[in-house]
Amino acid sequence: MKRVFGDIGRRVVIAAPMAGYTDRVFRRFARKFGADLTFTEMVSAEGLVHSTKMTLKYIEYSPDEAPIGIQFFSASPEYMRQAASMVKNMGFSVIDINMGCPVRKVMKKGAGAALLANPAVALKVVEAAKSAGLPVSVKIRCGVKSCAEWKSIKRFVAELEKIGIEFLTIHPRSAAQMYSGESDWRIIRDAVQSFSLPIIGSGDLLDIDAVRERVEFAAPAGVMIARGAIANFEIFTQVRAWFEGKPTPRFSLADRARTLLEFIRQEVEFRGETQAVKWSRKFLSKLFRGFPGASNFRAQLDRLETLAQVEGLLRPLMESKFSDF
Ligand SMILES: Cc1cc2nc3c(=O)[nH]c(=O)nc-3n(C[C@H](O)[C@H](O)[C@H](O)COP(=O)(O)O)c2cc1C
Repeated sequence: MKRVFGDIGRRVVIAAPMAGYTDRVFRRFARKFGADLTFTEMVSAEGLVHSTKMTLKYIEYSPDEAPIGIQFFSASPEYMRQAASMVKNMGFSVIDINMGCPVRKVMKKGAGAALLANPAVALKVVEAAKSAGLPVSVKIRCGVKSCAEWKSIKRFVAELEKIGIEFLTIHPRSAAQMYSGESDWRIIRDAVQSFSLPIIGSGDLLDIDAVRERVEFAAPAGVMIARGAIANFEIFTQVRAWFEGKPTPRFSLADRARTLLEFIRQEVEFRGETQAVKWSRKFLSKLFRGFPGASNFRAQLDRLETLAQVEGLLRPLMESKFSDF
């Protein structure tokens, strides 16, 4: 923990890795709004070793996204060793190893959550990542088929603690659950009480009230925010303020709409207008929820093609007086 965050003396709030979301612009905003650390999307260690164009794009970043961690997935200690050594001098604060991805394409190769069923290989992958000398963290689920596996997963966590990693992030859903059902924060509480290894909690931290409730219950060393930050970078400001013992700021829908428009403008600079507007639809779709008439806004998403149209759609929301959420 210390090697990544220094003597921070409080809980940390981390922007979770999210494939298809946490690009450079997302990370810049996460940092600007208060995240202590950001992450790349998950990157294939094998892809990096073969320097595929896509993979190299995933690992580019600029100083306003840092401190930043790189997340690898791999079932091969050898690829992991090489990939870790390739990024050693790129300025990443930590290498995270993905042991939670439930996607079939990844698990079929023995990577992601499949590593939980193969602790011997998983430990070798961690050792290989550590060989480059950068801090290493691991992100797991509570099990492959069900959280009932937690008992045996704990034996694996004890091994991780023994070989030494900086922190362990737990998303307490099984891989089979994907993102359905509720994450079981009793598992995070049990991990916090059972290990001295710093535990980061992930799962269903969708707004500041959900964060408060779960952090008070489980007392983790920090949290990782994923879906709760989509079209809501303000959540980082709120959680950070709470962790710093300051009053929690409140944000209106108009505030979030203004932030999202600025985000989309920067996406336009980053990927060009056509691609950026397409990319932004999923963020807008998230913004257009939970207020009267939201479905009318959502209905217009498919037709969006230009930044001017996005501005036109967001204008009434930016001028709205919808109450705080
Ligand atoms: C669209 C999407 C992409 C994700 N991509 C990754 C990823 O690349 N690596 C990873 O470790 N977790 C990934 N996750 C899992 C999240 O980091 C997080 O652990 C999970 O969503 C639970 O948090 P939440 O309920 O706050 O969303 C992803 C989640 C979503 C929704």
